[in-house]
Amino acid sequence: MPMITAVSSSLAIEHLFLFQQICGEKYVFVDEEVLHHYSHDETEDLHFLPDVVIKPGNAEEISSILKICNQYKIPVTPRAAGTGLSGGALPHLGGVLLSVERLNKIINIDERNLQVVTEPGVITEVLQNAIKEKGLFYPPDPSSRGSCMIGGNIAENSGGPKAVKYGVVKDYVLNLEVVLPTGEIIWTGANVLKNATGYNLTQLIVGSEGTLGIVTKAVLRLIPLPKLDLLMLVPFKDPVDACAAVSAIFAAGFVPSAMEFMERDAIEWSMRFVNDCIVPMNDETQAHLLIEVDGNDIDVLMKEMEGISEIVMGFNAGDILFADDAQQKAELWKLRRRVGEAVKSHSVYKEEDTVVPRAELPVLLKGVKEIGKKYGFHSVCYGHAGDGNLHVNIIKGELSDEQWNGSLKQGIIEIFELVKSLGGTISGEHGIGLVQKDYLPIVFNPVQMRLMKSIKALFDPANILNAGKIFD
Ligand code: LAC
Ligand code: ZN
Repeated sequence: MPMITAVSSSLAIEHLFLFQQICGEKYVFVDEEVLHHYSHDETEDLHFLPDVVIKPGNAEEISSILKICNQYKIPVTPRAAGTGLSGGALPHLGGVLLSVERLNKIINIDERNLQVVTEPGVITEVLQNAIKEKGLFYPPDPSSRGSCMIGGNIAENSGGPKAVKYGVVKDYVLNLEVVLPTGEIIWTGANVLKNATGYNLTQLIVGSEGTLGIVTKAVLRLIPLPKLDLLMLVPFKDPVDACAAVSAIFAAGFVPSAMEFMERDAIEWSMRFVNDCIVPMNDETQAHLLIEVDGNDIDVLMKEMEGISEIVMGFNAGDILFADDAQQKAELWKLRRRVGEAVKSHSVYKEEDTVVPRAELPVLLKGVKEIGKKYGFHSVCYGHAGDGNLHVNIIKGELSDEQWNGSLKQGIIEIFELVKSLGGTISGEHGIGLVQKDYLPIVFNPVQMRLMKSIKALFDPANILNAGKIFD
């Protein structure tokens, strides 16, 4: 049974009436079923009941709600789709759960300037498809793109497989309308590609995990849609060889549009979970690289695939599977995108979102496995190898509750210390949120922590907005 933790807060019945006046009665929820639905995100098995769920319809309503919460020091947890993996949307202090799901309009796709203006509650894939219809491209594509929302992607600075060639959310956000915890509404910048005007408030909000403000509109940069892509799945006997091949491919001058790593368990568990896609797998195969190239000239793409194939052969790759058609490509991507859910359905697990400079990936993988042996845990590793971003899924398996809740933490600290020593950090795209904050001092010293806490205090003097996320 999931743990339900109700936390009393400073919320009183009068406040509920005020919220009803602001948003209308039907958008203020206190019934148990709704509270339960919003008590969790996709992070492990954690649940915290909010006292009330509010679904405002616009920035002005959000502003009025935050003014009340600021005055009465009521905790507010902002939420988009709740697909996060670090507990950013968990209402761990009770109080108000503020959902932006009704702010779900794509306001304008500006084909002259290659920009889109959108509200935060639009599903990422819906936005991508609307943009694609105009022959344009918004690349950041987290695995959860069919259910996550653009507001959550901005809060987490999400990445996904395309990041290796096209960058992450921060590379596309030009300007944001934000409601501050005090209720003030600002725009952070301008709708321009260059901006040397004062501090970069836009990029301060991106990745701030809903602790500095609530995004109510975003102006995003678009690029022309590449017309063609080719995909191959490369098997390796030794996962470390697969990791080593990654930086060799870039060093040879190729920039694939995706370069994903999956250990054998990752793809096997995903095949079992998805159930309708089968990849033939030799008994000796222990890992795969899923490599995509894209562009507009098929001959160039074919040559790139040939060049990349030659390089991987130098790392003892097995027989490469070249995806024949759109259906096979879709199946391979489905298997890759659903690894996370497959792991979750398979076992209690913890996800560590390590990232290192790309060429250090083999050292990281070896290190993770050695630390696993030392602490007795099995890990399933997969992720965005081209970005040096390895999702380390630690499986509870045979570990006792004592080990799981006790000594394992030291093992995770060792993984993160290794990551740091390699020039990396403890999250590439999943954020710190609630569950990773104990580890933040591994990568930030007291001076850095003081700066970040001072920024938080400046934006949120009453400490109401997603308090206790990123740091206490
Ligand atoms: C992925 C998510 C878990 O890469 O980040 O599938
Ligand atoms: Zn990922």
